[in-house]
Amino acid sequence: MIKTAFYDAKEYDRNSFEKYGHAYDIQFRFLETKLNEDTVALAKGCDAVCVFVNDNVNAKVIDSLYEMGVRLIALRSAGYNNVDVKAAFGKIHVVHVPAYSPYAIAEHAMALLLTSVRRIHKAYNRTRDFNFSLSGLTGFDLHGKTVGVIGTGRIGRIFIDICRGFGMNVIAYDSFPAKDSGIEYVSLDELFRRSDIISLHCPLTDETRHMIGTEAIGKMKKGVVILNTSRGALIDAEALLEGIKTRKIGAACLDVYEEEADIFFEDRSGHILNDDLLSRLISMPNVIVTSHQAFLTEEALNNIAETTVNNIRSYYENDGICDNELCYRCGNIERCRKERKERCF
Ligand code: NAI
Repeated sequence: MIKTAFYDAKEYDRNSFEKYGHAYDIQFRFLETKLNEDTVALAKGCDAVCVFVNDNVNAKVIDSLYEMGVRLIALRSAGYNNVDVKAAFGKIHVVHVPAYSPYAIAEHAMALLLTSVRRIHKAYNRTRDFNFSLSGLTGFDLHGKTVGVIGTGRIGRIFIDICRGFGMNVIAYDSFPAKDSGIEYVSLDELFRRSDIISLHCPLTDETRHMIGTEAIGKMKKGVVILNTSRGALIDAEALLEGIKTRKIGAACLDVYEEEADIFFEDRSGHILNDDLLSRLISMPNVIVTSHQAFLTEEALNNIAETTVNNIRSYYENDGICDNELCYRCGNIERCRKERKERCF
């Protein structure tokens, strides 16, 4: 029996994880709290921890887990910016779910874009109130517009296909461009200059943190629409708000937010929100916020549970070799895991 502390458990996680866990002798200890320095002790007696995007797995947490005998961190997400993989190297192995449904995220990005440019969110509220006026609802055609995609991995590529279906011109930037993909790669500056819509699909790293800030926004077209379904800290939210206030940014669609950890995923409707920046962004007529929801489809939840359970199993039953290990051995996680099929250490 592999005992696994399952942090930040939501009701929609339990069914799928219990189903796959039982089949493979993995016992999940479901904990509603997030993993951080204060809650790490709850993993005592467990072999592994299973974490999500807002669990804070920093060096101190990793040391505590290691002292307790935990040897595996199983992320149930693709992104891993919340785990200090460097600090884990040599102590605890880290696995993730590289692809559970890239369609879920790419389709959500397009849903946000259409909602925003066709003012569906406003129309929905109006007609529910029997207000059938069209005043202020003028949108624009996506056909013929230029979309700049930053990050052309699994999700970015699907988003590109969807955009092409709409007759949009696609340009892209990626630090590792996909060969023979037929994608027109340009520099970041050119992408900022030419795009009517910019969609972020790259991971959050030291290099990409605040890649959309005052300077980048200054290079963009007036009226640009910014989509972020990747990670909040790719955007400097203060600079974004400023860009919206000065009318430089035409609209923003955000599924993620830099300071989302203590806000998203919970019902805060009866409370005063202590984040003035988020409150101000949400109050803008041209900003749409969803609560890190892009992954939330039945297909994705099922795949997340199945892959996570398989990752845990491979680690304990397959000499620790797991295709989905995040390896820090050569210092470049993105490259390392693509080139080797062995244990990280
Ligand atoms: P992926 O690993 O397949 O693709 C990421 C791409 O970004 C790669 O092509 C990589 O070369 C590129 N990249 C790396 N560093 C870059 C840089 N400095 N500048 C430009 N491009 C760079 O990842 P995938 O599956 O497409 O996911 C992308 C991101 O989406 C994840 O990192 C995660 O943060 C986010 N995500 C969000 C979800 C949500 O529910 N909102 C769910 C799943 C993922």
